[in-house]
Amino acid sequence: MNYMAITLIQPNEEHRDEVEAYKAAFVVSGDTMAGCGALEKLTFDGWLERARDGMANPSWGKVPATQFMAVDQTDGNVIGMMQLRHTLNDALLESGGHIGYSVHPAHRGKGYATEMVRLCLDQAREMGIDKVLIVCDEDNAASARVIEKSGGVYEDTRPNPDKGGTPTKRYWITL
Ligand SMILES: CC(C)(COP(=O)(O)OP(=O)(O)OC[C@H]1O[C@@H](n2cnc3c(N)ncnc32)[C@H](O)[C@@H]1OP(=O)(O)O)[C@@H](O)C(=O)NCCC(=O)NCCS
Repeated sequence: MNYMAITLIQPNEEHRDEVEAYKAAFVVSGDTMAGCGALEKLTFDGWLERARDGMANPSWGKVPATQFMAVDQTDGNVIGMMQLRHTLNDALLESGGHIGYSVHPAHRGKGYATEMVRLCLDQAREMGIDKVLIVCDEDNAASARVIEKSGGVYEDTRPNPDKGGTPTKRYWITL
């Protein structure tokens, strides 16, 4: 694997420029900002506030979750974003899952997402979660591959009502 070492850290003021660059790269690529905690529709300050307060104490009807940035240990670049939901509600059990993630378009295909999932599973284990659900759109072959490389066991495919019924592949990882 030819990736630089990454670490998962929670959002902070020091990474403002890197987070804004991450967002800008997705605007250009047009990819879904999965695992970014609504960064696509928030300012950096709004996102940081939500990550700090809202995740631990969700006021918008979702479950508690932890927002992570995957940061290159050598230069502090934000390589990816990831969210770990602490529990599953009905919608997450059906087609959302515990973990959402994305990798900067310039850094794909180097194993970062797979490493991020591995690090996130460590966090989930520490939280006492014993079975993790990870999902992806049926046509997202790269994400399906990441989940399979991470030991995901395919259960079934269900429609995601939040995405107009898009077929969603569901996988479980036992910790
Ligand atoms: C999905 C995503 C996170 C993958 O990130 P990544 O860092 O490139 O992933 P990795 O390098 O760890 O692994 C990607 C794997 O998918 C494979 N892959 C990539 N594109 C593929 C394709 N079109 N068809 C099949 N496999 C593909 C790669 O070859 C690699 O597998 P390998 O190691 O066996 O060669 C990234 O593409 C992304 O951010 N996409 C937009 C957001 C998104 O879709 N998030 C997931 C939501 S469920």
